[in-house]
Amino acid sequence: MSKIAIYPGTFDPITHGHINIIQRSAELFDKVVVAVAKSAGKNPFFDMQQRVELATTALANNVNVEVIDFEGLLVDLAKQQQATIIVRGVRSIADFEYEAQMAGMNRQMMPELETIFLTTHSEWADLSSTLVRDIARHGGDVSKFVPATIKHAILEKLS
Ligand code: COA
Repeated sequence: MSKIAIYPGTFDPITHGHINIIQRSAELFDKVVVAVAKSAGKNPFFDMQQRVELATTALANNVNVEVIDFEGLLVDLAKQQQATIIVRGVRSIADFEYEAQMAGMNRQMMPELETIFLTTHSEWADLSSTLVRDIARHGGDVSKFVPATIKHAILEKLS
């Protein structure tokens, strides 16, 4: 039976930190579904379609990775995708507390769905999409944190 994992997030936009987690997950599982959440509550900078397109372009070389959008409960998406694993990246203890709570609630709703945590590579431990956008907004260089296509998309949207 093939092991399908979902890596959910807002990806506003996808960064090298996310890409590192996805590539490592793609080594562990048969297929990784990168699920771009609507996350209306976060009032995203890029709309859903743009976030999906940017992630798809950034991950184009990864054969067993698929990018989709989703709205609704993660457990419902897992059933629909026949996924048995949720992957989450953990940057810090603070991340872990929030992640453990989400994993616990998802387990309450779908006991057969396992959440697996990968520690974020130290190079990306302080990275967040919000900080990348903020650096770009103030004229800083974000080349180190996101692929060139994403950098250009941020600059274009800001201009
Ligand atoms: N490297 C760099 N940055 C990382 C990272 C990594 N490895 N892992 C997380 N981040 C950053 C993200 O850039 C993001 O930054 P931002 O807040 O500046 O945008 C932040 O950490 C956390 O975002 P993300 O991982 O995208 O998670 P999220 O909190 O936005 O999304 C969902 C959470 C979508 C997975 C969750 O809300 C969900 O499952 N929603 C569906 C509804 C549902 O089922 N709810 C019940 C859950 S029990």
